[in-house]
Amino acid sequence: MERRFAGRVALVTGSAAGIGEATALRLAEEGADVACLDIRQAPNRATADAALAHGGDAIAITCDVREPAEQEAAFATVMERWGRIDILVANAGVYRGGPLADIPLDRWRDIEAVNLTGVLVSNRLAAPIMTGQGSGTIVNIASMAAKTSWPNSAEYSATKSGVLGITRSAAMELGPQGITVNAICPGNTLTDMVRQVAEEIGADLGMTGAEWLAMRAADTALKRLAEPGEIAGVVAFLASDDARYITGQAIEVDGGLVLS
Ligand SMILES: NC(=O)c1ccc[n+]([C@@H]2O[C@H](COP(=O)([O-])OP(=O)(O)OC[C@H]3O[C@@H](n4cnc5c(N)ncnc54)[C@H](O)[C@@H]3O)[C@@H](O)[C@H]2O)c1
Repeated sequence: MERRFAGRVALVTGSAAGIGEATALRLAEEGADVACLDIRQAPNRATADAALAHGGDAIAITCDVREPAEQEAAFATVMERWGRIDILVANAGVYRGGPLADIPLDRWRDIEAVNLTGVLVSNRLAAPIMTGQGSGTIVNIASMAAKTSWPNSAEYSATKSGVLGITRSAAMELGPQGITVNAICPGNTLTDMVRQVAEEIGADLGMTGAEWLAMRAADTALKRLAEPGEIAGVVAFLASDDARYITGQAIEVDGGLVLS
């Protein structure tokens, strides 16, 4: 594979599994040194070890993105080790859902802390570093839930819509310094998160998780769900020089879901 990111440093949040893991490995495969940040230590260590096998450097940092001080310490560790951050992928996220009337406010505060404040803090920490370098690229992982919606997902939709707001504003603010900021809106992607969501929403609809996933696949133009690597490939494109004139965008990677 082409080593487009040789000599560049990437920081990926939520790297222990799913889209974040696939992204960390894809960037490492293309030559980046990768900092893997996740709340779960052992699987995150495994991602960093797998990244090391691609020949660059990689570290695993246990970090809860809900805690600004933990993110601050993690960014400081990365700067001490490599002295720069060229690519930030703010990916860590959680799904919580349920009827509007029953949303417990502590659940809302928790999902907001991960999906929105977590992303805001990552972007806020990357901004001065990238501004100092005069270069950098940020990719925030939103969701199709930012562009469309379905019942029982007000919390998730609200946080993912907010990620697009952060992305657009940051793109305007950091563009003059040569920094691009984009979001990706994945459709249903075969990860632990979607399997859990499938069980929960499927049960509400009287279906098995597998039946719900098949229904979601049927709703796409391509008649299948995404593999995590297919989202990671778009992250890599947005982080690459080929995308240097793309900023402030929310790229749908959904197999044509919104067309249905
Ligand atoms: N899978 C999908 O269908 C889908 C669709 C649209 C958007 N997304 C978004 O993609 C991103 C990745 O989702 P995924 O499907 O790979 O999920 P996943 O559950 O497979 O992986 C998420 C990772 O984030 C980590 N994480 C969770 N809370 C954290 C915290 N507080 N601090 C640090 N790390 C934390 C988890 O430990 C896990 O390793 C999320 O932002 C999600 O909302 C996923």
